[in-house]
Amino acid sequence: MLYAVIMAGGAGTRFWPASRADMPKQLLALAGKHTMIRQTVDRLGELVTPAQTLIVTNERLIPTLREQLPELPETSLVGEPCKRDTAPCIGLAALLVAKQDPDAVMAVLPADHVIRNASRFQDSIRQAVSLIKKTPDQIVTFGIRPNYPAEIFGYIQRGARIDIHDEAAPTFVVKRFREKPDKMTATEYVNSGDFLWNSGIFIWKAKTILNALKERQPEMLAHLQKIGDAWGTPQQHEVFKREFTAIKGISIDYAVMEHAKNVAVIEAPYDWDDLGSWQSLARLAGTDRFDNTVVGRHIGINTTGTIVRTDDKHLVVTIGMKDCLVVHTPDATLVANKNDEEAVREVVKLLEAKG
Ligand code: GDD
Ligand code: MG
Repeated sequence: MLYAVIMAGGAGTRFWPASRADMPKQLLALAGKHTMIRQTVDRLGELVTPAQTLIVTNERLIPTLREQLPELPETSLVGEPCKRDTAPCIGLAALLVAKQDPDAVMAVLPADHVIRNASRFQDSIRQAVSLIKKTPDQIVTFGIRPNYPAEIFGYIQRGARIDIHDEAAPTFVVKRFREKPDKMTATEYVNSGDFLWNSGIFIWKAKTILNALKERQPEMLAHLQKIGDAWGTPQQHEVFKREFTAIKGISIDYAVMEHAKNVAVIEAPYDWDDLGSWQSLARLAGTDRFDNTVVGRHIGINTTGTIVRTDDKHLVVTIGMKDCLVVHTPDATLVANKNDEEAVREVVKLLEAKG
């Protein structure tokens, strides 16, 4: 049986002030009418039922998720007591899925992506699942052709082509997985033509990833197993909090993917974008003839290359502004040079420190 595990516990601090601790970007409608988590669930179509969908997130986001995804049963929402990055999130999900079906295949999906063609996306998941049927211990990733030397993505080096059948998306053995290389290395990778970006989506049997965690992260797995054993008992909450908090945070990319041997990559046959910052929103929402991206009520005079986000009631007027970022929310307004977007994260840290 196929299960979908959606990782939705990220902070999304680059989207402050729209994104907040209690309302991070995956719960916002940043690109399109629906929130990112809603789009992520809908994109799966008929591939999985609500009972086969697991959302792993921070516990304080559970009430909002319940509102946004009313069709999901209570058992589908898993609220972590603290943020420990993606490896523990995936390990716990694998244990819970394996409890239901020891032979289950898991599709692990981030909640911060924009994918345009849902039916092609579903076909490629089916392709991954059939590959795993043939080679059960396979880890399947999806690769995106890179168009610049991004330092914010993982890179996948393609090896020999795996022959599946004619109409399927090209699939390759993975020679090497490298998480977030520096600019120079990323440039080498992109120029070589041999590397793809890691889309952040993984397909594997629950037991494959549990074996990998046993090998690479035995302490983490031991904590997770205690949580798994207490699941559904009166001790669940207490054990979850204690054992999860004791885990050292690490992403699945560093914990497993950089060391895994049995990895294949399917060249993603769909348009993919990572909604990582306000600039990526401009890329997705498009720009007008003055190179401005505007969401909400705005009047621009002599304004170019600027991103404005407000609502339909609060008018924002910009005069003589170039390459700026203006984000209005009811209790905070950001005015910045749009190229200083890493500094937006600093603001969040500063505010957290001040309490
Ligand atoms: N439950 C849970 N708990 N989810 C988390 C946590 C956590 O502690 N931390 C992050 N997530 C969720 C995020 O909300 C997001 O949906 C997903 O896991 C990926 O985490 P990011 O923090 O956004 O990762 P990234 O974008 O830096 O890197 C990953 O994705 C890239 C593609 O977008 C890596 O897999 C890269 O290799 C990849 O290129
Ligand atoms: Mg991301």
